[in-house]
Amino acid sequence: MSHTIERPSRLDTARRAFSWRDAVVYQVYLRSFRDANGDGIGDLGGLSQGLDAIAALGCDAIWLNPCYASPQRDHGYDIADYLTIDPAYGTLEEFDEVVRRAHELGLRVLMDMVANHCSSDHAWFQAALAAEPGSDERARFIFRDGLGPDGELPPNNWDSVFGGLAWTRVTERDGRPGQWYLHSFDTSQPDFDWRHPAVAEHFENVLRFWFERGVDGFRIDVAHGHFKDAALPDHPGGRGPDAGHNHGMWDQPEVHDLYRSWRALGDAYEPEKYFVGEIWVPSPDRLADYLRPDELHNAFSFDLLVQPWNADRFRKAIETGLAVGRGWPAWTLANHDVHRAVTRYGQEQPLDEALPTDMIAAARRRGPADLDRGLRRARAAAALALALPGSMYLYQGEELGLPEVLDLPDAARQDPIWTRSNGTELGRDGCRIPLPWTREGRTFGFSDAAAATTWLPQPAWFGAFARATQAADPDSMLSLHRDLLATRRTHLRGTEPIVWLSPAGAEVLAFRRGDVVVVTNFGSAPFTPPSAWGALSPLLASQPLTGSATVPPETTVWSRLHRGVAA
Ligand code: NOJ
Ligand code: CA
Repeated sequence: MSHTIERPSRLDTARRAFSWRDAVVYQVYLRSFRDANGDGIGDLGGLSQGLDAIAALGCDAIWLNPCYASPQRDHGYDIADYLTIDPAYGTLEEFDEVVRRAHELGLRVLMDMVANHCSSDHAWFQAALAAEPGSDERARFIFRDGLGPDGELPPNNWDSVFGGLAWTRVTERDGRPGQWYLHSFDTSQPDFDWRHPAVAEHFENVLRFWFERGVDGFRIDVAHGHFKDAALPDHPGGRGPDAGHNHGMWDQPEVHDLYRSWRALGDAYEPEKYFVGEIWVPSPDRLADYLRPDELHNAFSFDLLVQPWNADRFRKAIETGLAVGRGWPAWTLANHDVHRAVTRYGQEQPLDEALPTDMIAAARRRGPADLDRGLRRARAAAALALALPGSMYLYQGEELGLPEVLDLPDAARQDPIWTRSNGTELGRDGCRIPLPWTREGRTFGFSDAAAATTWLPQPAWFGAFARATQAADPDSMLSLHRDLLATRRTHLRGTEPIVWLSPAGAEVLAFRRGDVVVVTNFGSAPFTPPSAWGALSPLLASQPLTGSATVPPETTVWSRLHRGVAA
């Protein structure tokens, strides 16, 4: 049985005027998307080949994870040269071809702006290492003398997000231990000092360089990080995973002027360029500050991503997201930094635990997962999120229902989180496994070369999730996503806000948007919508329906409301 009861006609699905406000953006983790040259690493040639599949899914845009020149110690989030493409991924000409082909298919292109830090291989950082303490070269980064009689103690107690100290001591030219530099992430990712004018000037040039090549906007990496408290005070919470949010390290007032200047730069283009921020701050009000009319267009609503499978928690996160995003938030249920949704929703998700300060920890749990249940819930969650006002970011493989690969051999793991936490945290390799395109074959169609070895090993069971197999199965996760996107286009693209429906029961979320009623049943018993909600006929359901009147457990149903007709 197909999930779409009423399939939209070809005419209905014709391309419409584009708006970032309600766009569906497909996140391409290039390294794992598709490999055209047979070296086992995804590349721009592979992306060009795969763009048709993204367009066929019904997406409006892609967000491309960093593909600039990089030693890949954090897989591209450590950039050595912002104005070139990493040779492992291709050439500038191949990049231009991706943009050209994407635009031809009606897909906008977002790149990733990693400006909090660069790679330690970047020419500026190499020059800083070679220069004297106090030099202008060092002033572009955050170099400080250490504490203690010989400067052997770090300048403060800040932890790196990836574990361990946020400071590393360098060896000076005379061979003696010298100053320390700040790195919010890995040692290979030195933080810029954004108070140095050369840094701001450099990044304006970087933005212009890619805008001139046709890029439509940027996702901004750690957008709350670019400035630190100039006094670099100790974190009163101390060190370690329970130390709490370190205010000195994040979310400083000056960062807002930076986004005002980027917004002005982007607004000078026609059409204006778009910015969406990756921002982790402890309160919705602080997040809202980044979305003032002259700052960023949008920011991810991570609050929804980290919630356990629970109606009340989802509702609160949705309400927060709508309030912060002024009615049009950027929703996401997955990305390259968290465990796959199918696995998360299949795991025991404690409800009573306070949210950890690092919300990401809630989305990278260990522990057994019931994958049937996880898939059912992930289907329902996708149908819920895609019915909300706002844009939606789908992480590659989410549309295939890929589970997290939790049992990667230790030796295969590459994420610095794994190494810096001494294996206490699994890190993010398991959500970055090269995609399966075909059921058979050594790399399940990821690589064009028959003998290729993928950069992270694919498990033997990956073939069962292949795109080609799912495309032919009307009940697959892929078909569900295609149907969701097509039906969203025809029925949910209006400007109508959501109107919550009640009484919906403790385990049910229900709302109306225009003439569509969306019901998600989080519970384990079927739910029958009350007749007061009006006469409903199902448009689409995340699980097969046994009758049109009830919503099965762990299922979302989109129904058409027949106004003026009694139920
Ligand atoms: C957030 C990115 O999404 C993540 O992948 C990266 O490791 C850190 N920022 C550092 O750039
Ligand atoms: Ca390749």
